[in-house]
Amino acid sequence: MKLTEKVTIGTVELKNRMVMAPMTRSRANADGIIQDITVTYYQQRSTAGLIVTEATNISEQARGALFTPGIYSDAQVEAWRNVTNAVHQAGSRIFMQLWHTGRVGHSIDKNGILPVAPSAIAIEGQQHHTSQGAQPYETPRALETHEVKQIIADYIEAGKKAKAAGFDGVELHGAFGYLPNQFLVDGANKRTDEYGGSIENRSRFVLEILAGLTEVWGAGKVGVKLSPSIPYNGMIDSDPVALYSYLITQCNALPLAYLHLMQPLLPIEQFPHWSKDVLKSFRHLSKHSVIANGGYQMENAEKTLLAGEADAISFGSLFLANPDLPQRFELNAELNAPDRSSFYGGTEKGYIDYPVLH
Ligand SMILES: Cc1cc2nc3c(=O)[nH]c(=O)nc-3n(C[C@H](O)[C@H](O)[C@H](O)COP(=O)(O)O)c2cc1C
Repeated sequence: MKLTEKVTIGTVELKNRMVMAPMTRSRANADGIIQDITVTYYQQRSTAGLIVTEATNISEQARGALFTPGIYSDAQVEAWRNVTNAVHQAGSRIFMQLWHTGRVGHSIDKNGILPVAPSAIAIEGQQHHTSQGAQPYETPRALETHEVKQIIADYIEAGKKAKAAGFDGVELHGAFGYLPNQFLVDGANKRTDEYGGSIENRSRFVLEILAGLTEVWGAGKVGVKLSPSIPYNGMIDSDPVALYSYLITQCNALPLAYLHLMQPLLPIEQFPHWSKDVLKSFRHLSKHSVIANGGYQMENAEKTLLAGEADAISFGSLFLANPDLPQRFELNAELNAPDRSSFYGGTEKGYIDYPVLH
């Protein structure tokens, strides 16, 4: 089976082509420090060739959801070191996903401070989960140019801290409507400085962060997750194929490890000009390894690898519910079903108690 064959992604050797997709589980403490159960959770899933951690806040400002972890204080770094040690001892590799939520947050849980974004445009038609229940999104505060540059510096500092914590690399969360994605799409970015307007300008934020991170990490250790066809969190763009074609082509000038591409996942019939298969639309433009994500099961994952459409496949909810997923695939064994009620927050239940085969 191709899925269980070794592969080198960037400059990192993986024991198989099965990646654990990044998944927020909201079990850190109020200071964004991960707890011992999180060490166990990742250790259990070291069957994956590569683990990408849950999205991790690069600064206090970056935080949009309660009990999500950070990588900006020394105590956070120390706690993450326990995870990287455990995963390495279990023979796997682990990248940290770096996160700034931008406008996907609420002042209720930000000490009364409004979320920030490229432009003062609120997310419509969705609510945010806060400590005081679901709330409509507020209009965020538009960032000044010097603040944009400071956030880029925050990403780079977080990249250094991830290195100090023993990770094998970092992944920029450029998908699903968070800050880098907000800069990319013209529905959320109406800026008139060098970070808004043309496709080149809207891509600048992501490309400057990636350039800075590759300077910290060297070649083949920095990935980026992109979702060119997902409108969630108000990610509407007038021409996403042109936008992502430019961005992905520009990434060729950087010594990245991989592109992590999310398939559409949600219905996109109302956007007939959007890509329905991101591997077919964008892979040929990239010289980097590609990790495909989004609704993959064993059969279509194997088919995608055999067709050479991706170098590895990431699995989200399947790894969440099946710590021994590679073994189950090899044996064609039944899979545990994920329990949605314990996805976000809570303790051991639905986190480290999914059964494994013996
Ligand atoms: C509980 C949960 C939390 C998630 N959190 C994140 C996250 O922190 N960062 C991210 O990039 N994607 C996140 N995702 C999306 C997954 O990484 C993945 O893209 C998605 O689940 C589709 O893959 P799948 O069909 O294999 O589950 C999350 C998904 C789930 C189920």
